[in-house]
Amino acid sequence: MPSVHLREGQPKDSSEAGLVCYFAFKDVAEKNNMRPELHSADDSIKAVASKLASSHVYSVVAIDKKSGKILGSNFLHEEDHICGVGPISVDPADGQNLGLGRMLMEDVLRRAAERNKAGVRLLQDCFNMRSLALYSKLGFRGRGTTAVLHGAVVHAKKGSDVIAIPSGCKTRKCIESDVEACCKLCVSIHGHDRRNDLMQAIEHRKSFVVLREGRITAYTTGLTYNGHSVAESNHDLKALIVSAGDIMYPGFHCPVDNGELLQWCLESGLAITKCMTMMSIGMYNNPSKPYLPSVCF
Ligand SMILES: CC(C)(COP(=O)(O)OP(=O)(O)OC[C@H]1O[C@@H](n2cnc3c(N)ncnc32)[C@H](O)[C@@H]1OP(=O)(O)O)[C@@H](O)C(=O)NCCC(=O)NCCS
Repeated sequence: MPSVHLREGQPKDSSEAGLVCYFAFKDVAEKNNMRPELHSADDSIKAVASKLASSHVYSVVAIDKKSGKILGSNFLHEEDHICGVGPISVDPADGQNLGLGRMLMEDVLRRAAERNKAGVRLLQDCFNMRSLALYSKLGFRGRGTTAVLHGAVVHAKKGSDVIAIPSGCKTRKCIESDVEACCKLCVSIHGHDRRNDLMQAIEHRKSFVVLREGRITAYTTGLTYNGHSVAESNHDLKALIVSAGDIMYPGFHCPVDNGELLQWCLESGLAITKCMTMMSIGMYNNPSKPYLPSVCF
């Protein structure tokens, strides 16, 4: 293994760490005949820059002691009781399969333990044997598979007719006064809330709620790769999905064990981008009602 040291990431690392992240994900995607989820190196740099600048995200970079080059990075989303990891990446040219990924994962697990977090979670690309092996060896346990879904919601059998919002449901932007009801719903499903994640989504105007019989029956922080949703029923989740209309690539995560919802999504015109394994360490309750995880958890 190259001689490296770890240090906390800084905004000035954005370009270098963003490029490593872009090429690492491109490399593994292409080796597995998959389309890379990041369109360009610029998108990757922007995504890494926003994480490095966020007070809700802890970051770590691995530096080659000899050249001073960044060889990898990892991120821990630590705003709520449960933390989410990712994206982790190691330079595909100089660093992979030599133990750097393990160092970067152990570092964020140490951070979560120091902060007394209840648990750490992530979603792992099913086609990536190395990351599955690494996370399992570190103690993560599989919690099911998701299908990542993208496309435009139309009624497959009727060509381009747009599907109506399910009966009795109204959707609107989530506002701050909805937060308590949304957190209560999340606790009833997962046993914990995601208050700070939700607050950020409201601030960025990405969050929506479903109202049925005068109460909030679902919310989402975005029908996207990074957004999560919880709902009283699949009926309510369908209202969120129909309202979103166009689901941008790579898409949102539908748990495969929610077969009724997955079948409806596919019959409504969405396509599967790839599958991911949900994994956790620490506190985990089997969700009691329908939900869509984010790429972190
Ligand atoms: C995933 C990634 C971060 C791992 O980093 P890395 O430095 O290559 O991995 P490491 O060498 O630290 O660890 C790999 C471990 O898995 C083991 N492993 C790898 N492939 C394996 C396989 N097919 N079966 C069993 N074990 C395997 C290795 O032996 C090693 O185990 P060890 O820690 O006990 O020695 C890196 O490969 C990467 O950047 N990939 C592209 C981006 C990516 O896919 N990120 C994760 C998305 S889910």
